[in-house]
Amino acid sequence: MTFVQDLGEASLAPLRIAIATQNPGKLREFADALAGLPFELVAAGDMGVTEFPEENGATYEENALIKAGHVALATGLPALSDDSGLEVDALGGAPGVYTARFGGPGLTDGERMAHLLQQLRKVPDEARTARFVAVIVLATPAGAVETFRGESEGRVLHGPRGEKGFGYDPIFHSTELGKGFAEATLAEKRAVSHRGRALAAFAAWAVTPAGNEVLRDTTPRELEFD
Ligand code: IMP
Repeated sequence: MTFVQDLGEASLAPLRIAIATQNPGKLREFADALAGLPFELVAAGDMGVTEFPEENGATYEENALIKAGHVALATGLPALSDDSGLEVDALGGAPGVYTARFGGPGLTDGERMAHLLQQLRKVPDEARTARFVAVIVLATPAGAVETFRGESEGRVLHGPRGEKGFGYDPIFHSTELGKGFAEATLAEKRAVSHRGRALAAFAAWAVTPAGNEVLRDTTPRELEFD
């Protein structure tokens, strides 16, 4: 009897999950979206993981797994990563998986936005449709991999608007919110955003018995994620 009760309490104990990102904007959105769940979120950097492998995958899924797998192995904790991008219809879906590198290496967010606006300078309002895509990957030290995807439709503005958010938020107008992502509160953005949706799917799975079991399985195995 006591044994059963102990097990029950153990499964409710907060579980530490490493967040495999160095992007403060993403970290804030992870913390916001997963607040209230029985998890203690720890940034990979706070566990000493500051070097990440090159993101040389051809898809969001591959790049997200590179990050989550690396951090799960380095920390011994289940790790969550995000790989995301902006797909602009007038550019045939570019920059997509290359969004973080759009315009070349070493640019600031402002310079990348300016580069995108320059590419779209002759594109009228109705043809500036775009979507943000996020893929969240959970990788565990026991070798499990789970993938969650979210998308959010909108269009690229003609110039920055709003002070909130991060990355390309100031030039993304959300169709569902009827305003820019950088004009939205964290809660408003979470409700419709690509990352908010992918994290909501993760949260719904994580509290199922199957999700709980995968997250808490610490059986050590010989692993290679890539
Ligand atoms: P990643 O870190 O390789 O996933 O790159 C994602 C790229 O998309 C970075 O340039 C981010 O700034 C951008 N990005 C992803 N999600 C968002 C968002 O929610 N708002 C604005 N920019 C984003």
